[in-house]
Amino acid sequence: MKIICIAGLIGSGKDEVAKYISDKYGYEIIDYANILREIVRNEGLEVTRENLQNTRLKYGNTFLAEIVIKKIKESEKQKIILTPMRRSEDYLIPKKEFGSNMQMILVEVSAKVRFKRLSKRGRENDPKDFTTFKKQEKREFEIFNFKKTFSYADFKVNNNGNMNQLRIKIDDVMKKIDKSEPEVLLRQIVHPHSPRKFIIMGPQGSGKGTHAERLAKEMSILHVSSGDLLRDVAQQNTKQGKEIKHLLTTGKLLSDELVFDLLKKRLSKKDASKGYIIDGFPRNIKQTKTLEKTIEIDKVIYLNVSDKECLRRLSGRTQCEKCKAIYGNENQPKIKGKCDQCGGSLYVREDDKESVIKTRLKVYHDQTEPILDLYRKNGKLVEIKINGIKQPDEVFTDILKALGM
Ligand code: AP5
Repeated sequence: MKIICIAGLIGSGKDEVAKYISDKYGYEIIDYANILREIVRNEGLEVTRENLQNTRLKYGNTFLAEIVIKKIKESEKQKIILTPMRRSEDYLIPKKEFGSNMQMILVEVSAKVRFKRLSKRGRENDPKDFTTFKKQEKREFEIFNFKKTFSYADFKVNNNGNMNQLRIKIDDVMKKIDKSEPEVLLRQIVHPHSPRKFIIMGPQGSGKGTHAERLAKEMSILHVSSGDLLRDVAQQNTKQGKEIKHLLTTGKLLSDELVFDLLKKRLSKKDASKGYIIDGFPRNIKQTKTLEKTIEIDKVIYLNVSDKECLRRLSGRTQCEKCKAIYGNENQPKIKGKCDQCGGSLYVREDDKESVIKTRLKVYHDQTEPILDLYRKNGKLVEIKINGIKQPDEVFTDILKALGM
């Protein structure tokens, strides 16, 4: 599956680019604007700019992307063009689903050339003077946060020239897309020097597992959870497995050496070579020092959430026993007890009893919290403050922003 997103400002020639790629390379076009127009029509409304905007506001920023994901999955073609990318959600939500199969081409054209092209279309709402056009565009740039959307571009194509020049440039990009190993292209082109070794920290229930998983998908790196590694051993019918199983129900920390050993083994596997995000290690000063001797960490993401909110969240948590996906009050599975991603059974962790959660939080404040200061001092800490209730999607956007992505 290859998905190409075409982004660009009004008048940049996104439609020409989409049509050219579709005709020459056999891609199916899925058009966000057409889907929105259809919804407006189905609601018995006239397709005006105002009705389009109001409908989008009414259903929220993610609903179009969800329809698009469904359409892509239902499409018989393995080659899809998505256009026009307006809000960052139009890109980020399918990206979460399709990962490195999706790449973005940004079509760039100077304001003067776009104004010239748009004012010649002969439509009623064509821009009349350059100053008003620039002002309106500045407003739209901010409202739609184009800066963020465009920052995901894997390829940039300048379209100040004529159609022939544009086609040559597109053919060039298509050669790279056709040849590309998606995993290699992802992010490395956009952020060639982006950090790739992360730690995620925060109290129990702050969302470490949830966001580590998403970030790992987003960056094509590995998510390693010390808790999951221990729970895997606990399932084995061995003396060690039984011991660990019992210790996990107490909420206390297990031996530093045992956990570091498991972590080291996991990080030495091939799938860790492109980078990773460690969730659950280090948990005390000794573990921090051991880790520092072995690995140069780029950034430490700290999810700062109150104990009260953590307790609320953990009371609703379930996890897939197969793929480890996490569900909660705010992100329930579509079918009760079944994982949306792999169909596996969901279970409640044994250490999610209120009394055990309280012990785990106490251990966190006593032993893990002091580590934060070390990372704060060496400039690696990226703090995400979550006051009150904030949806997982919003928190994820905050993380990406804080990491400069
Ligand atoms: P571990 O598995 O690491 O658990 P933990 O640190 O206690 O963390 P949790 O998994 O409980 O929370 P989380 O922050 O990952 O939250 P989640 O994303 O699930 O460790 C388990 C045990 O192993 C330890 O107690 C210890 O015994 C041992 N251990 C592990 N590492 C060790 C080490 N290094 N040394 C020694 N011992 C070690 O989210 C929680 C819920 O909230 C979910 O339901 C989720 O859907 C929901 N949610 C997430 N974000 C939001 C949001 N923004 N709004 C609403 N709900 C949200």
